[in-house]
Amino acid sequence: MRKILVTSALPYANGSIHLGHLVEYIQTDIWVRFQKLSGHECLFVCADDTHGTPIMLSAKRGGITPEELIARMQREHTEDFQAFNISFDNYYSTHSPENKELSEMFYAQAQAKGLIEEKEISQAYCEKCQLFLPDRFIKGTCPRCGAEEQYGDSCEVCSATYAPTELKDAHCTECGAKPVQKNSQHYFFKLSALDKELLAWVKAGHIQPEIYNKLMEWFQQGLRDWDISRDAPYFGFPIPGADNKFFYVWLDAPIGYIASTQNYCAKINRDFADIWRRPGWEIHHFIGKDILYFHTLFWPALLMAAGLQTPRQIHIHGFLTINGEKMSKSRGTFISARQYLEAGLNPEYLRYYFASKLGGSLNDIDLNIGDFAARVNSDLVNKLVNIGSRLGSLVHKQLDGTLAKPDAAGQKILDEIRAAQENITRDYEELELHKAMREIMRLADTANKYINDSTPWNTVKTDPAQAAQICTSGLNCLKILTAYIKPVLPIIAAGVEKFLNCGELTFQNAGDLLLDHKINAYEHLAQRIDEADVNKKLLG
Ligand code: MSP
Ligand code: ZN
Repeated sequence: MRKILVTSALPYANGSIHLGHLVEYIQTDIWVRFQKLSGHECLFVCADDTHGTPIMLSAKRGGITPEELIARMQREHTEDFQAFNISFDNYYSTHSPENKELSEMFYAQAQAKGLIEEKEISQAYCEKCQLFLPDRFIKGTCPRCGAEEQYGDSCEVCSATYAPTELKDAHCTECGAKPVQKNSQHYFFKLSALDKELLAWVKAGHIQPEIYNKLMEWFQQGLRDWDISRDAPYFGFPIPGADNKFFYVWLDAPIGYIASTQNYCAKINRDFADIWRRPGWEIHHFIGKDILYFHTLFWPALLMAAGLQTPRQIHIHGFLTINGEKMSKSRGTFISARQYLEAGLNPEYLRYYFASKLGGSLNDIDLNIGDFAARVNSDLVNKLVNIGSRLGSLVHKQLDGTLAKPDAAGQKILDEIRAAQENITRDYEELELHKAMREIMRLADTANKYINDSTPWNTVKTDPAQAAQICTSGLNCLKILTAYIKPVLPIIAAGVEKFLNCGELTFQNAGDLLLDHKINAYEHLAQRIDEADVNKKLLG
């Protein structure tokens, strides 16, 4: 039995969960459920990422305290995750006593090892707001193409990147005043001092090979030291021994993974140091490609400095596009989790759709509404659930609700389905979810074809014993395939378990057959959807 700690990236507390986020939480959740159903000990922890200037300012704009804002968002996020059946063992907050203490510990360890350096730097400052301005809080005219109202770091029109000082007519997004340059003392983490250890870690295969070259480029350019401090006012943890300085949100955010683990272990009375100190536990982080620098360099460096174990694997996924385009607020394609739920769409459909699209690579994945409707209808409804709806009432009404033994032709198909478990298991493990889904649906096709060819609804009139055998074969196909797809479709799987009266399906009991076995009445498991209707509901 493996011991596995899994995390998804901590969503920012100043925004709602949207379908892009859900790619990650669903991918992680499928993997976690797969590990648990395979008999491993697996802990899935996450938290809201609560600190930083944007959250501070967004609370101020709303006339509430940051604490009120993050409490409200925590409730909203938790409800959304529950609705999509994301099975966190613990969902915590980075604004917690555990996280404060751990962040201070990390800092002290880094300091003790001579990895913290003080430097004076000059940054944009708004005298009216009395605030150092992050790039996103400065707007102006792009120095390259002249587009107005572009952010301080990059132009959305011509994609140029630049320093905020290069913007023409730069102004503070909060008050419109022109920023000045101001000096202040900052604390830097000396990433460069760990570059040998980090390079060895990167080379040891903890990250997908496709980003290896990108990482090597960073090493060749030389790792730059990392500014881990921010000036007051800032919503975060004060840096011990420093005046009016706070830890940068990206310092305490990943430490939040540990804080959530600790908080969970306290609840269930178990020693948590074990998990982050001993190699007996594998640590797996799931993240999007936009935050890979933080997770492949800063985070391992922090762990090394603190003497904790580094991650076994960073699983990086691509970005969600909608009908082939980047999600955008102005085009109305920034679909929130709420919007999806309020459209009355089944969360399991999105889980299945993402699974059918996701591989282990960093490629972007597209939500195409036509394709979405087609997958749900032709795979879930017509292939998988169809087996149950066709045979359920027949067994119930005409065969005393009881299964018998498989016939010879059915047994052959059952053997084929059982033999597929090894490949499907490997595909789940390697996050080649689309391959696993394709194989499961291919097998469901085979089962349906067998049922079509054997016409038990005719046979039952002349030879009920033979019909019972056909139904036994067919419904056992459904049983095994349901076990295989259960990490993706926990609710539909629960419906099948109830229908087949078979207890909890796992990857360990998947292949056991239900023989001479009483089943329950078939209840509806999944409904067809209509493309035009989904389009209207999601994209207006
Ligand atoms: N708070 C940081 C993560 C801190 S982890 C110590 C953050 N938050 S986020 O809310 O912006 O994103 C959370 C996760 O969702 C990230 O892994 C991010 O890559 C992912 N996604 C956000 N938008 C996404 C898409 N459109 N598509 C796929 N994943 C996306 O980053
Ligand atoms: Zn201002």
